[in-house]
Amino acid sequence: MNQLKQLRPAVVVVGASRGIGRSIAKVAARERGAVVLVARSTEGLAAAAMDVRSAGGEAFTLALDLLAEDASSSLQEFLSANDLVCDVLVNSAGYGLRGAATTLPLGDQLGMIDVNIRALSEMTLRFLPGMVARRSGGVLNLSSIAGFTAGPNMALYYASKGFVRSFSEALHQELRHTGVTVTCVAPGPVSTEFLETSGAGQARLFKVLPKVDAEYVAEHAWRGFKSGRRLVVPGISAKLTAFAATFLPAVVRLPLIGRLQRRSSDLCACGSGKKFRECCGAR
Ligand SMILES: NC(=O)c1ccc[n+]([C@@H]2O[C@H](COP(=O)([O-])OP(=O)(O)OC[C@H]3O[C@@H](n4cnc5c(N)ncnc54)[C@H](OP(=O)(O)O)[C@@H]3O)[C@@H](O)[C@H]2O)c1
Repeated sequence: MNQLKQLRPAVVVVGASRGIGRSIAKVAARERGAVVLVARSTEGLAAAAMDVRSAGGEAFTLALDLLAEDASSSLQEFLSANDLVCDVLVNSAGYGLRGAATTLPLGDQLGMIDVNIRALSEMTLRFLPGMVARRSGGVLNLSSIAGFTAGPNMALYYASKGFVRSFSEALHQELRHTGVTVTCVAPGPVSTEFLETSGAGQARLFKVLPKVDAEYVAEHAWRGFKSGRRLVVPGISAKLTAFAATFLPAVVRLPLIGRLQRRSSDLCACGSGKKFRECCGAR
């Protein structure tokens, strides 16, 4: 007689080899269930798996490049092969690039669309229908305070995070009363490798804004997700920045961000106002 396999619910963390994703995996592991860790770095995944086990969870690792076209189907096959079903999906994989859009390499900029937007959307849309059918679980997507405004000198990154916020908030609304939650997390600067690899850490904006650590973001993100929140902005400084980004008029906000997002060493001594516009305003 054919027996239906009992599938076990898993928390799947995409972008779990370091940073915020690794910290969220550790927090999720306290619930003592299965946690599937996904990223490219096998070393990072092995370290994250140790965190998960020491927090009481059962760790599974899958080395996967989200730039591969079959990434989401490979993840689905991995889950099926281990008798797991994606109950909670955390999309934390992402990268950024600081610099003028006309000077940054085209391929690296388009890669941000592939990882930050396409892969996140594909993972979300692949696993959400099953959650809705089971009336359980949900999706936690990493946006940023960058998702509240356009960001000169980091244009595509800000746009990608704006997409994540818009997409996640719309899904949150669509899924009301289904038993499934979509939560968007929008942190300010977080002390992870991201600040160095993106070049954001060299910009005055990221030097001025206070940084929080990944564990702090993870605790807030998980608690917000568990209580069904639409949007989580961890910390008072990030909340104030998001507020300013929403309400400052574009004519003030865009030159300010553009200027603050240049490297300190890129800035000349032209000052502000008319002198600044003549000297650096077009950059
Ligand atoms: N740090 C901040 O200041 C900050 C602030 C706001 C929002 N965020 C957002 O939070 C998320 C996590 O950032 P983080 O600070 O934790 O960054 P991070 O430390 O650089 O970690 C990024 C994660 O994404 C994975 N990843 C990147 N490209 C991938 C690819 N092609 N395939 C598979 N995995 C990939 C990395 O794993 P591998 O390299 O091993 O593949 C790593 O696990 C990002 O979406 C970021 O935009 C960060």
